[in-house]
Amino acid sequence: MKVKSLNLSYNIFDSIRDKALDQQYLPLINAAKSACNLAHAPYSNFKVGAAVMMKDNDAIIQGANQENAAYPMCTCAEQVAIYNAAILHPGVPVKALAVHVNVVPTHNRPPSPCGACRQVILETELKYGGDIQIFISSQADEVFLFPNIKSLLPFYFSGDDLG
Ligand code: THU
Repeated sequence: MKVKSLNLSYNIFDSIRDKALDQQYLPLINAAKSACNLAHAPYSNFKVGAAVMMKDNDAIIQGANQENAAYPMCTCAEQVAIYNAAILHPGVPVKALAVHVNVVPTHNRPPSPCGACRQVILETELKYGGDIQIFISSQADEVFLFPNIKSLLPFYFSGDDLG
């Protein structure tokens, strides 16, 4: 019998003004924040903004959650951003993704992508072979940074599982 453990390492910045936060990602985090205004969320009133940064020229593509009266058809902000990027910049890897909500979650940390979104982000990460850095923030000051989506989705399901 073996016991193994996983180690998750991530950064917590005091705010977007934290000197340790790589300044090139400020426009990305701000784009996720402004994307909250693009949400269509009349049912949950929970507006989520997302933005991805492309690897070749740092172009930023936004997304926001789009809800439907038929609730299961709601689409998350992260997925809107990732799929927009795939169409607008075909063949270009994504280097970073930011997610923002205009509330302070009760658990006091920013909202991390839901399980379905992690799977979608993973597909993009695996498609291009590089890491996608994940920034998450809320109305509280702190910004969390995860080095890639794999760290948020250990034992992920991928094409390799299909045999
Ligand atoms: N939502 C997102 O946009 N991203 C997530 O990762 C989790 C949830 C949206 C879906 C729905 O419109 C609202 O937040 C409430 O769940």
